[in-house]
Amino acid sequence: MDRVNYEAEGVDSWKNIILLYNSALKEVGTKLEILNDEFQHVHQYNPIEHIKSRIKTPESIVKKLKRRGYESTIENMVRYVNDIAGIRVICSFTADIYRIADMLAKQSDIRVMSIKDYIKNPKESGYKSYHMIVSVPIFLSDGSSDTKVEIQIRTVAMDFWASLEHKINYKYEGEVPEHIKRELSECAEMVSDLDAKMMSLNEEIKDGTEDEGTIATLRLIR
Ligand code: GTP
Ligand code: MG
Repeated sequence: MDRVNYEAEGVDSWKNIILLYNSALKEVGTKLEILNDEFQHVHQYNPIEHIKSRIKTPESIVKKLKRRGYESTIENMVRYVNDIAGIRVICSFTADIYRIADMLAKQSDIRVMSIKDYIKNPKESGYKSYHMIVSVPIFLSDGSSDTKVEIQIRTVAMDFWASLEHKINYKYEGEVPEHIKRELSECAEMVSDLDAKMMSLNEEIKDGTEDEGTIATLRLIR
């Protein structure tokens, strides 16, 4: 993010930065919507159930910088906080997660800075999700700035689990009783089983529906 005006005083500088992160969310959001539309067009189904995006609050940014031992400055937040712009993509099936991630990564204006695959390597808690930090150029009147976005891609079931686990952690302020941890871990296994079963069911019916779609289209264009 080399062209950001750090010289601007306080609030102005903050506003410039937030404008960039908001624009980056729009850019990545549109890319995802286009991929979803193309999928619908080619395969007759939507891999993306929905997309949520958010800008990190100033309080959380400051808290994160403090936790990591950095002074609260605009420079530090841009350099060290990778999830100021965050986008969560909820997919139907696990295979869709990797398709979406791969198609995004291949786009020439997207630079993948890091990947954490908590689907292949779940966290100890049972947390599963695919995380990417990417940077995307944002073109403003005075040039372009590479802006970071954290993308979390997961299935509906993984998202359901993560929301509940987050709520539980919040309630117990991190000191979650053992039996609840155990049950959450069991739920995480059920989530994996469910995702696997739903995906294989979908694979089984998929060929048929694609054929029907093609036949219908051929009838139309003839
Ligand atoms: P943070 O400093 O928390 O952002 O983590 P990190 O920089 O080590 O990155 P990581 O990819 O591990 O986590 C990024 C984000 O993923 C978090 O801010 C959460 O939104 C989500 N996340 C990571 N681990 C868990 C978890 O165990 N449970 C839940 N519910 N969410 C998680
Ligand atoms: Mg975070």
